Order: sequence, then structure tokens, then C-alpha cells
Amino acid sequence: MKKDILDMDSLSVNEIHSILDMAVNMREISERPIKKVPTLRGKTVILFFYEPSTRTKLSFDIAAKRLSADSLSISGSMSSLVKGETLLDTAKNLEAMNPDIVILRHSYAGAPHFLARHLKASVINAGDGTHAHPTQALLDMVSVRQRKGSLEGLKVAIIGDIAHSRVARSNCVGFTKMGSQVTLAGPPTMIPQGIESLGVRVAPTVDDAIEGADAVMMLRIQKERQKDTLMSTEREYARYFGLNLKRLERAKPDVLVMHPGPMNRGVEIDPEVADGPYSIILDQVTNGVAVRMALLLLVSGGNRNVDSD
Ligand code: CP
Repeated sequence: MKKDILDMDSLSVNEIHSILDMAVNMREISERPIKKVPTLRGKTVILFFYEPSTRTKLSFDIAAKRLSADSLSISGSMSSLVKGETLLDTAKNLEAMNPDIVILRHSYAGAPHFLARHLKASVINAGDGTHAHPTQALLDMVSVRQRKGSLEGLKVAIIGDIAHSRVARSNCVGFTKMGSQVTLAGPPTMIPQGIESLGVRVAPTVDDAIEGADAVMMLRIQKERQKDTLMSTEREYARYFGLNLKRLERAKPDVLVMHPGPMNRGVEIDPEVADGPYSIILDQVTNGVAVRMALLLLVSGGNRNVDSD
């Protein structure tokens, strides 16, 4: 049994395969007329989000409810954090309520790891600073594998603000582990030094990165994490680093266009690409629920019976 899901580094290739397989089964539950199984009845899941979220928070909540767990959520601004309580004191208080699983999103890299060391409950990282967003990477991998059959040997381009993106970091580790070739591109000010140590290539231009790609993942500029302005204007950014139909012609004819959301339409991605035939952006969201159901099951003891009531 896996107690915590903290980053992609701590998941083996076999564990990733097993999570992706479980997610396919979980997706089937979400397509039933009655989208609920009793598997996690009696379990308590706390969603603790210190940063804003639409997709991750809602999909964890839906995932818990589809598995019949009791889910409760609290946001940073509504918690006693604003009265000066430390994360450790918060963790001890959470522990006193005996939850089974705590889902944490936090602006500090390592916050979920810290919580995991202090809680008997399982901790799942829902995004920590610029460090990791493992559940996003897993749902991205499910979405690509579903269309391509395998991740082995695929060319995956990740474009944009790599330096501030936990999504990029987790996807670099995840896709590389599964045998894909990952190429990064973006403004030089947004490409971290030494990122090649993750086994990825940095392309000199976006066009170069997209050439022959099986999947292109666009990222937004994380203004909230940039201390200084690292770009000139949005119009200029779109011209040099944005994805439009013309630029996409360089990719394979059956390319998949991805974005973790939220999108800045007209900046990193043209609306006609985001809403076009190559886009699997909303499928990523659907798979987000399935992957999070699989992870709740995994930390609760595995892929048990998921028949309906
Ligand atoms: N992809 C993602 O993490 O989206 P949210 O910030 O809306 O959860």
C-alpha cells in the first residue's frame, strides 16, 4: 500500500502503469447512470487548499463522492492560517480529527511532504509551489495513453513558463520515466538552468520543439509566481511563444493539444486551437476525476471491488 502521493519521482514505472490502468476503470464508473460505488464508504477526505483551484479541487471532491467517501473542504483564506496558525499546528489539529486522506495545495514547495511526515493519514499533493503537481501529470499521461496506446517513444513538447510550472516539472519526470522524449521551449527567462538533468531537451525555438511532436502541452505564464516581469507584452508573447494553427502544422498530423488550465486564450494558445479538433483539453479534465478516484483508492489500500450498490 502507498501511504502518500507527493511527486512523480517517488512513483515507480510499475506504480504509474497501475495508476493509469486503475484510472481507465474509474472512468467507466463516471460514465454509468448512477456514478457512485461504495468502495470508500466510511472514509474521510479533507481537501485543504491554500491556493485557488477550480479543476483539482472539484475533481478530488467529485472523485471522493463517487467512491462514497465523506469529503470536506477548507480554503487557506477561511482557515485559522489567517490568524497565524502554523502548518504544523494545523496538521496536528487535522490529525486529531482522524481523517483518512488529506489533499493539500500549498504555495510552499515541500508543504505536502512536511504534512505527510506528521500525519498518520495519507497525504496527496494537489500542487506545491513550483515543485510538483503529480496528479496533473498522471491525468495528462492517461489522456495521451488513451489516444496513442502507449507513452513509449512519443515526442512530447511542453511550451511556456517552465520555470514557474509545477505541471511542467511533474510531466518532465513522468513522461520521461514512461519512455517519452520531452522537449521544452519558451522565453529564455522562463527556462530554468539545468532542467536538462531531468532527461529532457531544451529547444532553441517553439517551432523546433513542435516539429514532429505527438503531443504539445501549452502552459500559461504564472504571473503570481514571478517576482519580476519576465515578458514584454502579451501580444509579443503570443507571436513568439503562442500556439496557433500555422505553428501546429509542424507537429504530427494526429497531434494532441493539451493545456492543464486555466488558459489565457490569445496569449499562450489561440482559441481556434484550444477549441479545435486536435484539442484534448476537456478530456484532460474528465480524466482528472478518474485519476483522482484511482489515487484515493490506491492510498486506501488498492483497487478493491468497485461494483455498484
Ligand atoms: N490544472 C490545475 O491545477 O487547475 P486548477 O488550478 O484549476 O486546479
